[in-house]
Amino acid sequence: MADKNQQTYHPAAANGYSRNDAETGGVDPRELRRQKQKKWALYIIAFVIFQTGIIVLFTFTVMKFRTPKFRVRNFRSFDTFDVQPTTPSFNMRMNTQFGVRNTNFGPFKYGNTTVTFYYRGTEVGSTTLRKSKANFRATKKVNVPVDLVMPTTLASNADLISDLNSGILPLTSQAKMNGKVEIMFIFKKKRTANMNCTMEINISLKASRISSASDTRMCLDKI
Ligand SMILES: *[C@@H]1O[C@H](CO)[C@@H](O)[C@H](O)[C@H]1NC(C)=O
Ligand SMILES: *[C@@H]1O[C@H](CO)[C@@H](O)[C@H](O)[C@H]1NC(C)=O
Ligand SMILES: *[C@@H]1O[C@H](CO)[C@@H](O)[C@H](O)[C@H]1NC(C)=O
Repeated sequence: MADKNQQTYHPAAANGYSRNDAETGGVDPRELRRQKQKKWALYIIAFVIFQTGIIVLFTFTVMKFRTPKFRVRNFRSFDTFDVQPTTPSFNMRMNTQFGVRNTNFGPFKYGNTTVTFYYRGTEVGSTTLRKSKANFRATKKVNVPVDLVMPTTLASNADLISDLNSGILPLTSQAKMNGKVEIMFIFKKKRTANMNCTMEINISLKASRISSASDTRMCLDKI
């Protein structure tokens, strides 16, 4: 039985493997090499999976282009505040703070943007924000006065009389802010931040509550 085993080993010895057999404790070196290759293949596969994971993570975080939010943040004060509930009429200049919230990993550069204010669908004022940018994951705050003047088309408007008598002037503001998000200086994408805010001016308080029609998070910052 032992003789037979030795017999089968002879061809390997002829190939010069017998010396290696002695060095590797009798394990077949071809088997060793195969195991080594398998180990390397596993390392490479693990690396590729890891790298893919990093790329996917990167794509869904840093490289993700998010649409910035543009909203009315608050009304600080009124420079002019002339409201006549019975006539009816209103004429006010409110110092308004707008916010451009940019959650991208890069700046959002926007162009001149006009914000229009409406009372029940009738335009009552507008203002323009000069082109600028909201930095990397930051909210750009812009203070601009807005003149709200009752247009003659609303003279003797029954809704307006009743709203002013109730002490609340409901307003909406809309805007399209066109700009470009820039990530790592070279990746650029156009993005438009749409504003659609609703707010109420409390006439006795000369203040306003702000809420958003389309996105409750958008215009709900405190007054
Ligand atoms: C943006 O507004 C400023 C000042 O109102 C004006 O000088 C400039 O030409 C405007 N830019 C564009 C691109 O309209
Ligand atoms: C306006 O604000 C005052 C003070 O907070 C409050 O008492 C009043 O109820 C408000 N008016 C309306 C119509 O909500
Ligand atoms: C703003 O929101 C109101 C209420 O949800 C909706 O009726 C209106 O169409 C919206 N306007 C824009 C321009 O999205």
